[in-house]
Amino acid sequence: MLAAVTRMWLTRSVKPFRFEGTFDPCLPFESCEDLGLYVHIPFCKSICSFCPYCKVLYREEDCNRYLNALIREIHLVGSRHSGRKRVTSLYFGGGTPALAAGRIQEILDAVNAHFLITDGIGVELHPDNVTVPVLRALKNAGISKISIGIQSFSGKAQTLLGRKAVDARAMARALEAVPFQTVSMDFIFALPGQTFEDLRADIDTAFHSGANHIAIYPFIDFTFTSSTVPAMQKREKRALLDAITEYCLRRGYVRSSIWTFSSQPGIRYSSMTRDCFLGFGCSAVTLLQNQFKINTFSVPEYCRRIDGGQLPTALTLRFSPRQRMIYYLFWAAYSTHVSAEAFERIFGVSLKKMYGLELGLAKLLGFLTEQDGIYTMTPKGAFYYHYYENFYTLSYIDKMWGTLRREPFPAYMEL
Ligand SMILES: C[S@@+](CC[C@H](N)C(=O)[O-])C[C@H]1O[C@@H](n2cnc3c(N)ncnc32)[C@H](O)[C@@H]1O
Ligand code: SF4
Repeated sequence: MLAAVTRMWLTRSVKPFRFEGTFDPCLPFESCEDLGLYVHIPFCKSICSFCPYCKVLYREEDCNRYLNALIREIHLVGSRHSGRKRVTSLYFGGGTPALAAGRIQEILDAVNAHFLITDGIGVELHPDNVTVPVLRALKNAGISKISIGIQSFSGKAQTLLGRKAVDARAMARALEAVPFQTVSMDFIFALPGQTFEDLRADIDTAFHSGANHIAIYPFIDFTFTSSTVPAMQKREKRALLDAITEYCLRRGYVRSSIWTFSSQPGIRYSSMTRDCFLGFGCSAVTLLQNQFKINTFSVPEYCRRIDGGQLPTALTLRFSPRQRMIYYLFWAAYSTHVSAEAFERIFGVSLKKMYGLELGLAKLLGFLTEQDGIYTMTPKGAFYYHYYENFYTLSYIDKMWGTLRREPFPAYMEL
């Protein structure tokens, strides 16, 4: 309800987001200035009950068939542009993409045939993948950023999440032997019984074990997962978020987005904060100037579509101008800054003209400050963004992913 009312207000329309089950063979990415790439590899050695992502149990044969299809999809999309298109970054997400470390060079060869990556390549790892041979294979292929799904160093939280303990010392040794420009570690907060002391220990251990960037995600209880972990109450969650933020800032860490902190400025790991991106693989999203599309979540159906020489798109949305602006602002705000100049460059209209009232109100409520056209979120604003993001995730992402897990190609979807 809250998400729907906000959508109607900000898009000045009662029209829902309507996704069509048809697919558009045309992906006009040539004109996108800030274009990023995303590649999804859905295999995991074991499945975590709390995890909402598109993933399946690893079998070598299935993984190889999928990777063959993935390489074909990259060529299918990339060959529509003559020459090599400049892109900022490439992120491999999952699932556990490091399980494909042995074929990462082959995938990159396909990407490099059509794109010129300027700002580095990132890969997600499970802690089990943090070994010298895997890290070497990734580094030799040109990977510059890695993100490790720690969740917690505390046995109490790992047991709750059904994950095994992480050997921080062994991990630190491997990371020291094979260094990367960015080493990010993922944590989950707002688990039942979790205290600030638990989180402070996680943060300290991360920065002492080779991380120079951390992401602390609030636990989200997706309706379609089999997780039995209850969500934390709002007040307790806010106190924890404030305490973590204050602690990280006091230690001199730099807040690079709502949930991420780095030990030095300029270190980033984020596949979401680009104006436009092309997504390859099952469940991958493509976001262009006025088009959003999401690929099927079914691994066999994905391979079948590609074998038939067709795009594996499950749903496509044509944004209205206001819908696209809101989508942009939502993700720009995730980085805690919104630039009026960048907005005007992308949309050809001033931010004040489109959302002057809302920005004024947000300033009045103490959610934002403004200096020279840069709007910066205050800690209060960051909490409410985070709070609203929970509604957004449960109203939009939960419904979309829940449906796509059941139906490979739905006729349409309204959100
Ligand atoms: C694709 S996984 C990371 C790589 C690897 N598969 C692993 O689990 O170590 C992405 C991250 O999403 C976060 N995540 C997964 N389920 C979540 C949930 N229900 N709520 C909040 N964060 C979640 C976790 O921090 C996880 O590390
Ligand atoms: S959290 Fe990571 S390892 Fe667990 S199921 Fe999700 S993607 Fe796989």
